[in-house]
Amino acid sequence: MCDTARVHLLPGLATPDDFAGATVVVVDILRATTTIVYALAAGATRVVPLLSIEEAAARAQTLGEAAVLGGERGGRKIEGFHLGNSPDEYTPASVSGRTVVFTTTNGTRAMEQCRQARQVLIGSFANFSATCRELSQAERVEILCAGTDGQITREDVLFAGAVIDDLMRARAVLVNDQAEIAADAWRSVQRDFASLKPLAETLRSSVGGRNLIEIGHERDIAIAAEIDKFDLVAELRLKPWEIVSR
Ligand code: MLT
Repeated sequence: MCDTARVHLLPGLATPDDFAGATVVVVDILRATTTIVYALAAGATRVVPLLSIEEAAARAQTLGEAAVLGGERGGRKIEGFHLGNSPDEYTPASVSGRTVVFTTTNGTRAMEQCRQARQVLIGSFANFSATCRELSQAERVEILCAGTDGQITREDVLFAGAVIDDLMRARAVLVNDQAEIAADAWRSVQRDFASLKPLAETLRSSVGGRNLIEIGHERDIAIAAEIDKFDLVAELRLKPWEIVSR
């Protein structure tokens, strides 16, 4: 049962020690963690998140045919990679039964901070309820927002707030101020839902949303805003360093 939950609005606002022994949720709604969930839902056997393009390319080479190289720099597909960072590129035809070797600017970097955690989950609106269900069993929850290039991003804060809100509804949970701020942000957006302003519209005006619109990936915003598309828990297994679904 969850007793304590904290939010870290940016990797720079936390240290690896903050995550030692905890269940951590890494969040990069636009788009790394959303895309990883889509890849697993499409039947990828695992996603291997790596920091650099060189490291990813080398790993894919050792895996040969079994590997699909995916990710972005500056939001765009990396030269020589099979796929970019749009969730809907990850289909059964492109990834089923294969290993996705994946590198992104902020999302995979945030994961590196969690090596001392007890358990690491990959969170997105696409697998929101499944993630919350898993977290309700954890004693101590830490939510790590990836942000964008050192800036806090609204979409990650909203997801963190939605999780905190869910945990608090179930029982009294001790939270930090960043969690309160995130939950307040989520509740105010929920009031907008009542006036029929969809989440996608809110995400469009965030830093991440504006960046995507600028580079022609506007469609990804609506995809990332769809809640509970999959009933899937995505877990980063630390020892083999691979994300698998269950
Ligand atoms: C990241 O990890 O930096 C992002 O997901 C960026 C993007 O999708 O463009």
